[in-house]
Amino acid sequence: MGELVFIGLGLHDERDVTRRGLEEAQACDALFAEFFTSRLQGATPEALAALYGREVHVLAREEVEGSDRVVEAAREGRVGFLVAGDPMAATTHVELRLRAHRAGVRTRVVAGVSALTAAAGALGLQIYKFGRTASLPLPRRGFAPLSPYEVVAANRAAGLHTLLLLDLQEERYLTPAEGLAYLLEAEERAGDGAVRAETLACVVGRLGSAEPHVRADRMETLLKEDHGPPLHVLAVPGRLHFMEVACLEAFAGLPADLAEALTR
Ligand SMILES: C[S@@+](CC[C@H](N)C(=O)[O-])C[C@H]1O[C@@H](n2cnc3c(N)ncnc32)[C@H](O)[C@@H]1O
Repeated sequence: MGELVFIGLGLHDERDVTRRGLEEAQACDALFAEFFTSRLQGATPEALAALYGREVHVLAREEVEGSDRVVEAAREGRVGFLVAGDPMAATTHVELRLRAHRAGVRTRVVAGVSALTAAAGALGLQIYKFGRTASLPLPRRGFAPLSPYEVVAANRAAGLHTLLLLDLQEERYLTPAEGLAYLLEAEERAGDGAVRAETLACVVGRLGSAEPHVRADRMETLLKEDHGPPLHVLAVPGRLHFMEVACLEAFAGLPADLAEALTR
């Protein structure tokens, strides 16, 4: 009987998979991967294939969401579906899992290290003080929804932090500066006063790599900085505990005057 195993690959390269995930992938009859919800910037499909001992078929979004290819393969044998990060965190793969389940295919999830928790950890922000997460979209003509800004506004009104994922499509990545500009432009349209140029924000880049990028400063300062190559997330803090301020100062370059104002 077949099986579909969702396997999280972690954050940066082929070494970020858990030992369990590695063993599960090696035990599969066929391996598929998708890199449209997130990427392993430090790994190639060839490096993954060498580690797992079999070819990895990288699928486009339509081949996952608009096709039964993965489910059909999983009727025949054990199929691994490889996803960067945690396979079910900020992805649509629960739909594929349900489709497989309804087709009578057994499914399992092997969790992976996720950018959603790793970003909070790198900044020293407490995970239970985050409100809803939002995604900032790449600019498309006539499409700049206010919804991510509204999530920040609602979280900040409740004193909660907001994690903002940055859209990626093929070789285009929304940069941290574009993300911050998006929020400030939304502020101009909505006018709720949720964010200003002086509002504290955080940028986290290249989690899992040897040199992750971790910054906290006023939006206007972060807007002018070079945050290096992708991937990145943004965070807009809500009410900060003094330990969180101390972490931002120690690990994210938060300027001392801002740290002092935030702990006052
Ligand atoms: C749609 S989410 C999917 C998250 C993934 N399933 C996980 O658990 O990490 C993808 C977004 O997470 C962020 N991200 C993923 N990996 C990252 C990394 N290594 N460093 C920084 N941000 C990352 C980026 O904003 C990226 O566009």
